[in-house]
Amino acid sequence: MSKKLQALAGALALHWLGAAAVLAAGEPVEIRIDTARPGATINRHIFGQFAEHLGRGVYEGVWVGPDSSIPNTRGIRNDVVAALKAIKVPNVRWPGGCFADEYHWRNGIGPRDRRPATLNPNWGGVIEPNTFGTHEFMDFVQQIGADAYLSINVGSGTPAEAADWLEYLTTPQPSALGKERAANGHPEPYRIAMLGIGNEAWGCGGSMTPDFYVSQLKIHARYARNYNTQQKMQRIAVGPDGTHTEYTRAVMEAWKNKTWAWDIEGISLHFYTVVKWPPAFKATGFGETEYATLVHETRRMEDLLRTHLAIMDQQDPEKKIAMVVDEWGAWLAATPGSPEGFLEQQNSQRDAIIAASNIHTFARHADRVRGANIAQMVNVLQAMILTDKQRMLLTPTYHVFRMYLPFQDATLLPVTVSAAEYRHGEIVLPRVDAIAARDAQGKTWLAVSNLDPGQATQVTLDVSAAKFKRARGETLTAPRVDSVNTFDAPTTVAPKPFQAQASGGQLKLSLAPASITVVSLE
Ligand code: AHR
Repeated sequence: MSKKLQALAGALALHWLGAAAVLAAGEPVEIRIDTARPGATINRHIFGQFAEHLGRGVYEGVWVGPDSSIPNTRGIRNDVVAALKAIKVPNVRWPGGCFADEYHWRNGIGPRDRRPATLNPNWGGVIEPNTFGTHEFMDFVQQIGADAYLSINVGSGTPAEAADWLEYLTTPQPSALGKERAANGHPEPYRIAMLGIGNEAWGCGGSMTPDFYVSQLKIHARYARNYNTQQKMQRIAVGPDGTHTEYTRAVMEAWKNKTWAWDIEGISLHFYTVVKWPPAFKATGFGETEYATLVHETRRMEDLLRTHLAIMDQQDPEKKIAMVVDEWGAWLAATPGSPEGFLEQQNSQRDAIIAASNIHTFARHADRVRGANIAQMVNVLQAMILTDKQRMLLTPTYHVFRMYLPFQDATLLPVTVSAAEYRHGEIVLPRVDAIAARDAQGKTWLAVSNLDPGQATQVTLDVSAAKFKRARGETLTAPRVDSVNTFDAPTTVAPKPFQAQASGGQLKLSLAPASITVVSLE
């Protein structure tokens, strides 16, 4: 063989070895979808968003004002609206968070130039200009096609203040408050789909004992009425803080023994992927240990839900009360140099894996978990969108929300995944995490994450009974687990087309390391 040919053969062998090394999967994993045993509907509201008056979440992230050079519609930025419309945001929780329990709605109505400047003591002590108030929020949710999930002020407000806000928003009658709303530009009553009765009443929402909160809950649930009889409103009580079960028990027992005079339709759970406070995990520039630790931590959502849902089942076996996980996501060390209290953080492929893991957990409990709100929508914590003045980028977490659109209101199908592990030091995780569902058109969808950041995984799906011929969809991979999108390189982490053909009654999917793949089975 000539030297030239030898070199070429060597190069080819190396190339082949390289490809084999990339494709070499750990143990192959088998997935079975039981298409004959459809489960509960995966409520689209588990894909809800949270927008608090915090840092650049609302101001700059959503609201730039009608005079801004950033293209906007009545002050709300068009690029952000278009991006959120594309992921069919089902609801937006507003105005907080801790902010909600210090928010006085009257400061945010009427001519904007006459609204008072107040303070935001929770989040950097900055001036709250109140230019984004009730009408601006309702305009925003209408522009993106979402429902309004309003949090009323139970901590420092009064039942009368909350009742007035609801009357102002929802009455079709020409009462003084109804007329005031019309004078402020909206004669038609608004629709409030969800109402949070306080926020973290065990913490920033008033440090209330469970019993004290329950008495506040009864009062507010009675008087913060929905006057829009055309539309139902779900009232969500404050529920547990992570593992603590006292609130779950107190609220559910009170509900079980309730009188005709008050009611609720849901209870909330807050759980952040943080490991310990204050948040110290870096959002960028981390390695496999930090990846594995946070993915392991986020998977605690499953145990938490099991604990709280078991308590709910005792008091409410018919599952009338929804569990709404209205704050969840990764809470990392703030971006160096960002203002104190603004909770700004980058968003990496690890965040995408975290998002998919939580969506899978919520879907598996679809019979009770009928709402969830990732914290938070723009520029804060595990955001969908980051903005820098006129620039905007979509995060890896955004891409997950877009890829999972087919699961909104689809019917859960049971999935079994053969045992296979990913290990890093003491941490043991399943190698593969999957859910499946059937959409309204009868199409079957599979979402599958390969949690192993070091190895591709070969997944085999027995499709002989269902006679699926191919899988088609998208996969979200990244050069590294800490890869992020930046304003200069906004598509480093972006979904790519994915497909596989069945052969001999089997579909083989080759999943890249630390990837998320969503396919329809056709
Ligand atoms: O999302 C940030 C904060 O976290 C919220 O204001 C509060 O409810 C929670 O503690």
